[in-house]
Formats: sequence, structure tokens, C-alpha cells
Amino acid sequence: MSEIHEQKILVLDFGSQTTQLIARRVREARVYCEIHPCTMPLAEIKTYGAKGIILSGGPASCYEPGAPSVDPAIFELGVPVLGICYGMQILTHLLGGMVARGSKREYGPAKLQVHKQAGPFRDNDPDEPQPVWMSHGDRIEKLPDGFEALAVTGNSPVAAMGDIERRIYGVQFHPEVAHTPGGAAMLAAFVLGDCGCDPIWTMHNFAEATIADFKERLGGKPVICALSGGVDSSVVALLLHKAIGKDLTSIFVDNGVLRAGEVSEVAGLFRDVFRLNLIVVDAADLFLDRLAGVTDPEEKRRIIGHTFIEVFDEEAKKIGQVDYLAQGTLYPDVIESVSFKGPSAVIKSHHNVGGLPDKMKLKLVEPLRELFKDECREVGRELGLPESIVSRQPFPGPGLAIRIMGEVTRARLATLREADAIVLEEMRAADLYTKVWQSFAVLVPVKTVGVMGDERTYEDVVALRIVDSVDAMTADWSRVPYELLAKMSSRIINEVNGVNRVVLDISSKPPSTIEWE
Ligand code: XMP
Repeated sequence: MSEIHEQKILVLDFGSQTTQLIARRVREARVYCEIHPCTMPLAEIKTYGAKGIILSGGPASCYEPGAPSVDPAIFELGVPVLGICYGMQILTHLLGGMVARGSKREYGPAKLQVHKQAGPFRDNDPDEPQPVWMSHGDRIEKLPDGFEALAVTGNSPVAAMGDIERRIYGVQFHPEVAHTPGGAAMLAAFVLGDCGCDPIWTMHNFAEATIADFKERLGGKPVICALSGGVDSSVVALLLHKAIGKDLTSIFVDNGVLRAGEVSEVAGLFRDVFRLNLIVVDAADLFLDRLAGVTDPEEKRRIIGHTFIEVFDEEAKKIGQVDYLAQGTLYPDVIESVSFKGPSAVIKSHHNVGGLPDKMKLKLVEPLRELFKDECREVGRELGLPESIVSRQPFPGPGLAIRIMGEVTRARLATLREADAIVLEEMRAADLYTKVWQSFAVLVPVKTVGVMGDERTYEDVVALRIVDSVDAMTADWSRVPYELLAKMSSRIINEVNGVNRVVLDISSKPPSTIEWE
């Protein structure tokens, strides 16, 4: 643990879907925080030594049998506590107040009127109502001793409360969501003001601390990492390169299903500009030969996954003794495996390099384990990664193979690559590439009739998939301008041989998925 971790906030999770957002808002206030299940034992909470505790929301009602709770001794630790929604109700219940089922559910926007400028509301103007986002059925009937109402909304006489002396607060609304525009400032006021944390969690400090830590822990020990050119693996490779230099070997596998220009771009940047010890393996033929005749999407994934491990393992063996494998696991993956089993527990279905550590019997180094994606990007910028990598859209491990419906052949790959490059080029030109979640072309296994000049054509269909999303769990098709779609369509039909029709995918996830396979 380095200095930047010392002043931290503990977020106890009661299963809300927005628990991660609480942690992100706290981090944005430049304070380190971690999410742990509400069942974390008191002894561990004490040892953890947070300067403040936040109780998340959750789907339960606090009088329900089996409703999740927390050890009431946390209120005796002398550190400030903030309960959000269910967190406020359980806090009320445990401290001797009363929670009642509200006559109606309050869900959606409300106007918050602050009565007292204290705690999270120290900077709020009582004369200026604040838009806040409510989502609760229960409400506070009787305040616990020592508490007073700090704010109201139309439906909640106690939209916020506090025991100012003990610095214990509750808010009925969700300060962490975007629909509460002033919420980030309230959380910042709590962690910086009440908890007294210094705003030292910056990605500059993180990069420095991590590099120093790895230098000490790994210096002289050989480490390998799989570089994909995506932002996570790029940041991992650069952090380690700065820490241990040539003791890190990065391996970039050309699996034959990458986008146009990707191999030369990644190799050029990391080998020639950043001077990484980089091995580029051209395994395209091996992958494509194994994919021949395969149409089932899961089979494509399996073949690509296994072949990747095989190729990577073979290259690693050539290096000789290797102790560690560096991987770009991010904090949301860590939370998913430890989180309280509420709706915030989600099943992760895709893993890029899953299986590598088991097979290779290597110890793992995961420098990004504590970071959210936007923090990872920020570290990338700190390390001098170009924006083309830092703000890269996600690209699936099985690459273009799952964007070619049906069999993956070299000819079909060439067609999709060209169409995809046009989509990306036009998205960038319209300044929309970084504003959407993903934008790509899909090759549909259907031929349709067209006419070019006097000739009848019978050629392939390309679908455009452009989506907005925050975490890929849900997504909606992006409402990009018609003019942009028109330009993509006419360029693809004119420039890509064998395509005479372009269609737009207007499905949301769920029930569809982002990728077509
Ligand atoms: P879906 O299609 O499930 O995609 O809505 C959600 C996100 O995951 C990416 N994706 C994958 N990533 N291996 C990966 O590394 C895969 O097999 C895979 N399948 C989908 C997809 O691009 C989107 O960002």
C-alpha cells in the first residue's frame, strides 16, 4: 500500500445497481475508495482503516426477513458515515428510528430543498432547489435520536438527514447518478469535508506509485504480457516497461482477424516509439486455417481462444524462465467477484485471455486491479499513450471473426476490413468516434440484387452497428446524423468490391446484443 491509498473511503454494498457509481464519484473527488460487501466483518472494517464509510442503496426493504444489514458497531468507530437510499433506511433502523413503507413509490426526478448547509450539503444554497433522482418505496417515519432533517422533496419530508455532531448522514436520493447533477459535489463535500481526506488520488500519483512498487517487487524477475493494442493491455505494458524495462516481454499475436492496419500500428508504436521488448507473432494462417468451415459463433470463440493460448505459450517458452504474467484486470471485474449478491452482481461472459494463467502456471501481476476504465485511460495519458489508443473503442478478443456471419474466409475478411475502416474513418471525421461506445461494420451472409451502371449485381450486404452504452451491459443504437450514414453507405458501396447494399442495425440491448454473434 502506498501513500495514495492511505486516505480512503469504504463503500459497503447492499446490492444496488449504482454502487460502482458511488465509488467512481468518490474517486473523481480524488479520494481512493473500495467497494466491499455489507457483510464485511467488523474486525476487517476496523483493520481496513477507512476515513469514512458509505452505505450503498439496495433492492431490499429493511424489515424483510433476511434483509441485508451491517454491524451497528460501525457507528461507534468515530468515522463519518453516509447512507444512500437503502443505506439510509438501514442506518435509521439500526440507530433506533423508524422506516415505513411509503404510500407510493417515489421513482424518478424530484426537487431537493436543502434546509441546513451541513455535511454533504455544506455548499448547497437553501434557496436553490436541486434536481435529484429518487428510487425508493420506503421512507423515514421517525428519525433516530440526535438526527435532524437536512432536506426535503415534494414526497419525502426527510429526503436527507444527519446527526451533525457524529457526522452520520442519510440521503433518500441517489447522489451518484447523472440524474442528480449536484450529487458528485455532495459526495465530494462528504469525503473531503466530513471525512477529511486529502484529494491525492490522481492518476499521476497512481502511475508513480505503481511504477515504484513494481520496480521494488519485480525488478530482475521476468514478466510477460499479452499486448492487444487495446487501452488496458497497452497501459499494463507501459507501466511495467517503465518499472522493469527489458525484464518485461510483451507478446502481440496477429490472429488474422484484426482490423485494417492494426498490426503495423501497434508494432510501430510499442516497438519503435516506446522501445518495448516486443515480440510480434504472425499466426494469422494458423488461426484462419483452424477457422475454415466454422460457422458457429461459440466454436469460433473457442478456436480463437485456444489457439491464442497455444501460440502465446509457445512464444513464452522461447523466452526461457518466466515468473509472472501481467494482465489488465480492471476494478469492475474485481468487484463482480467479491460484491454482495444483489443485482449488482453480474455474470461476466467474455474474457480475452481467460485460461492463460492456469495453463502456464504463472503468478499474476494486475496493475489495473484498482482502476475504473476512465482511470485507466487517464493513466495511459499520463504515460504518453496517444489518444488513438487511449480512447479506443472496445474490440472483442475474437475480432472480426464474430462480425462475419457464417464462415470466416480470407476474402470475406478483406471485404469486412475495408468496410470497417470506412466506418471508423467517417466516425472520426464526424467527431463521433469517441462519443459512441462502439461503431463497426458487420458482414451479413446474404447476397442481394443491385444495379451498377447497366449491370445487374448480386453481392454482399454490410450492416452498420453503432451503439451508445456505459458498460456494454445495456446499449442503444446511436442516433447519428443521416448525412453521416449516407456518406458511409455510399463510400462502402462504391469503394468496397463485392458489396452493393448497406443497412443500419436499429436494435437495442437487450433484447439484442452489441455484436451480431
Ligand atoms: P455483446 O455482443 O455481448 O457485447 O452485447 C458486449 C461487449 O463485449 C464485447 N464482446 C467480446 N469481447 N470477447 C471479448 O473480448 C468476446 O468474445 C466478446 N463478445 C462480445 C463486445 O464488443 C461489446 O463491447
